Amino acid sequence: MQRVTTIPRLRTAVAEERGAGHRVVLVPTMGALHAGHFALVEEAHRHGDTVVVSVFVNPAQFDRPDDLQRYPRDLDGDQAALAALGDAAPGILFAPEVSEVYPAEARTTVHVSGLTEGLCGAARPGHFDGVATVVAKLLNMVQPDAALFGRKDFQQLQVIRRLVTDLDLPVSVVAVPTVREDDGVALSSRNRLLSPPERRRAGVLPRALAAAVRTAREAGGDPAALREAVRVTLATEPDVDVEYVEVVDPATLKAPRDGSASPLLVALAAHLGAVRLIDNVVVGDPDDEDRLLAAIGGAAGHHQ
Ligand code: PAF
Repeated sequence: MQRVTTIPRLRTAVAEERGAGHRVVLVPTMGALHAGHFALVEEAHRHGDTVVVSVFVNPAQFDRPDDLQRYPRDLDGDQAALAALGDAAPGILFAPEVSEVYPAEARTTVHVSGLTEGLCGAARPGHFDGVATVVAKLLNMVQPDAALFGRKDFQQLQVIRRLVTDLDLPVSVVAVPTVREDDGVALSSRNRLLSPPERRRAGVLPRALAAAVRTAREAGGDPAALREAVRVTLATEPDVDVEYVEVVDPATLKAPRDGSASPLLVALAAHLGAVRLIDNVVVGDPDDEDRLLAAIGGAAGHHQ
């Protein structure tokens, strides 16, 4: 694995791989890598020959300076963890400085309208402009055949799909299922900022989503009933400060037109102390439902 920090060096390294006839696949990350990222890297090998992992804590997608400052960083640890993947280690680790990605004279941003105003966008103004801008830039820097993103950041995934289509970028966007801990908590770099009691309380998030899945299976997919099932479960942990619980059409991220469309994205954000966590499940997607129920130790059951 070679570690490169500048765009010209990256382009040279990628050109060598292309010269060898290799398909190139990108896994963009902000570092503090965990098993969710390693699942992306392993899946990436199924989509090409040379995997590029980028590690860049993107200041443009942080709406609060304290959040940016606190975000975990461990580039040497990330590199060692990637190397430890052995045969699955990426060929190239791209870890640019902020000034490399955003030279002082830069003036261009990418804005995806319609998908960015609700859910996480409502409380994090500018966040998705920052994501869309850096992802467009990374895709241009690497020019991969495919790029992989986790389903945990479902809104981000839809924003990226939209920008790839709208900007005619020649790349396949691959979505990878959320990886969960033993109690069902979705892996996130932010989990390492939780105190032990906060980490224990975080288990209520996947349990709340599972309540929505069970409600849909038993009583149908009325969005109001799903939202209520999530809220009632979240309320069992009073120290979990709920930012939103939304039930929306996964394609538009808006309220379903006929009121009870299927599938439905059930998405939430909550604060545990100073740490903001998000999670989601797509009700009506049997695989996603079963993965969630299995992860929290509930019987996944046989989906009809
Ligand atoms: O999901 C992330 O880690 C980031 O939002 C991404 C896609 C790497 C852009 O900075």
